[in-house]
Amino acid sequence: MIAPSILSADFARLAEEAAAVAPSADRRGADWLHVDVMDAHFVPNLTLGLPVVTSLRAATDIPLDCHLMISDPDRWAVGYAEAGAHNVTVHVEAATDPIGVARDIRAAGALAGLSLKPGTPLEPYLDVLRHYDTLLVMSVEPGFGGQAFMPEVLDKVRQVRRLVDTGHLNVLVEIDGGISADTIEAAAEAGVDCFVAGSAVYGAEDPGAAVEALRDRARS
Ligand code: DX5
Ligand code: ZN
Repeated sequence: MIAPSILSADFARLAEEAAAVAPSADRRGADWLHVDVMDAHFVPNLTLGLPVVTSLRAATDIPLDCHLMISDPDRWAVGYAEAGAHNVTVHVEAATDPIGVARDIRAAGALAGLSLKPGTPLEPYLDVLRHYDTLLVMSVEPGFGGQAFMPEVLDKVRQVRRLVDTGHLNVLVEIDGGISADTIEAAAEAGVDCFVAGSAVYGAEDPGAAVEALRDRARS
């Protein structure tokens, strides 16, 4: 799966930018549209919030993948699920009661996602992860698009892939940060299911074509 990140899109033209990667007669298109919510507190950048997600939900049929890089997700995450996000991801470093958050997100009808920063290990959170549907492995420090991919996080991907394949865990594995034609194959080999890509999609001349090219590359 490919999830273009609108962080690298033109924020004044979000509906058109979503349409540029949407499925069409001759293209599978984006599987999810990744929406980076930042609060200038958990990360040193500020992007968008609930009103924009609500509008975006009405402007596109692509399932929204909301990545909350915010403090106190315990309070805010459920609102994104209620706004119609398909998957709502919170950071384990920010959540006070991550199991409670997952329960609330799911009760509001969305998939629940847990994200780990590059330096955050997987082991301490395995029990928490059983309450989640998706795991978002960060391959850059969260906060900005266009950063260099950190290959060392692939060990974490391999670890979770093994647990999923042996039936010990049931999560979809996502990776976020620095995914491009040059890095996606290594991530695919390590066992990623869903690739988030911002600059590699919206920095391209034809974002729709870039989505298909990335998917082909991941399969090769
Ligand atoms: C970074 C965000 C990413 C970002 C990725 O904190 O979580 O989703 O958009 O951008 P690229 O693909 O350019 O690294
Ligand atoms: Zn993200």
